Amino acid sequence: MQNFDVIIVGAGAAGLMCALTAGQRGQRVLLLEHNARAGNKILISGGGRCNFTNLDISPECYLSNNPHFFKSALKRYTQWDFIALLEKHDVAYQEKKLGQLFCSQSAKDVLNMLLEECRQADVSLRTSCEVKDVMTLQNGQFLLSTNKGEFTAASLVIASGGLSLPTKGATGFGYDIARQFGHTVLPQSAGLVPFTFTDQINQVTKRLSGVSIPVEVSFRGQNFQENILFTHRGLSGPAILQISSYWQPGELIYINLMPHITDSKYFLELKEQNPQRTLSQVLNNQETELPKRLVAELEQLFWPEKAAESMQSFSNSELLAIAEQLQNWALKPAGTEGYRTAEVTLGGVDTNQLSSKTMGSQLQAGLFFIGEVVDVSGHLGGYNFQWAWSSGVAAGQCV
Ligand code: FDA
Repeated sequence: MQNFDVIIVGAGAAGLMCALTAGQRGQRVLLLEHNARAGNKILISGGGRCNFTNLDISPECYLSNNPHFFKSALKRYTQWDFIALLEKHDVAYQEKKLGQLFCSQSAKDVLNMLLEECRQADVSLRTSCEVKDVMTLQNGQFLLSTNKGEFTAASLVIASGGLSLPTKGATGFGYDIARQFGHTVLPQSAGLVPFTFTDQINQVTKRLSGVSIPVEVSFRGQNFQENILFTHRGLSGPAILQISSYWQPGELIYINLMPHITDSKYFLELKEQNPQRTLSQVLNNQETELPKRLVAELEQLFWPEKAAESMQSFSNSELLAIAEQLQNWALKPAGTEGYRTAEVTLGGVDTNQLSSKTMGSQLQAGLFFIGEVVDVSGHLGGYNFQWAWSSGVAAGQCV
């Protein structure tokens, strides 16, 4: 049986960051990962370029049952700290849009940097190592039974992530350990995930598969102006992923297909200027930014009987009603694609039983939870990795 000062379960973003931070303080750190390699999700993130943080990290970009919990850790290890680490390792990066920072070359650069820092800090990394059981000993130490033997440590950090992407190693292990030590675990659901549809809209999205347009998507006061993407399963794209973290099953979302057109009389002016043309012909203009294929589908949904008729045959109130449908298209998703494709898991270990300074359990001395396993989830755009880095450092500084 080997003894360490700290054992960290999960060599993802949060676990690696915690390990190198604790190692730099001279702690003897064991980092356990059941996959054959560390950092699987880092490698596939951001389309292989890892959107590792955002220039604008603000509390509004996070969801949690306790909207204050995450502020302290994010303030103490910021996006600028992570950027400085990348610069120390000469990792090239660039802003793509909306403050989102990506590696210029490959997500591997971020993972290699973290592994190198762990190596320099003498962290012992064991991959293909599955933790089967955790117990506490009389001396207050934790005893972990794994397929590679038993290990003990005074501190145990759970960095095993959430349920998203089971094919990449996601498990409910962290929630089980939390419950074992008396923690409340808030219900989980898939976040940053595409919507599926079963009704007529599913046929529409199938036919439009591949079309992407800038829109505004809303749900209960949350609005996101970004692109949506029609797919053969339903709707995806950044605006949809963002709103999915707020959406509740059975509820409607609203899509403004022409967010840049704010003049309520716009359709009436189109009629005045184009009395002889059909509504579809008129909508296929540069100003609306609506692709032809989409307009043809909208025609079938909202004005099928008048498809062949000229603009002048529409009454003003008919046109205004159609404008309302296009600018406030109410859609009821059947569901989401679930953890198979979700970028994040909402819910998790209740923050009310954790210290916001150390991520330590208030119920069990020496036990810590960091990263996605905790009930803190970010918007799309580098916010989830920043939470992993910040919470990892917070725990790494005091284990
Ligand atoms: P993470 O899931 O990364 O790591 C947990 C580790 O624990 C895994 O390696 C797992 O195998 C291991 N583990 C689980 N159970 C175990 C057990 N019983 N024993 C041992 N090991 C165990 N975020 C962002 O900010 N920018 C982005 O570009 C993206 N892109 C992105 C793309 C895709 C496809 C996904 C699915 C997700 C993203 N994300 C993202 C989200 C981001 O990947 C996520 O928030 C972090 O990886 C969470 O880091 P953690 O370390 O908490 O968990």
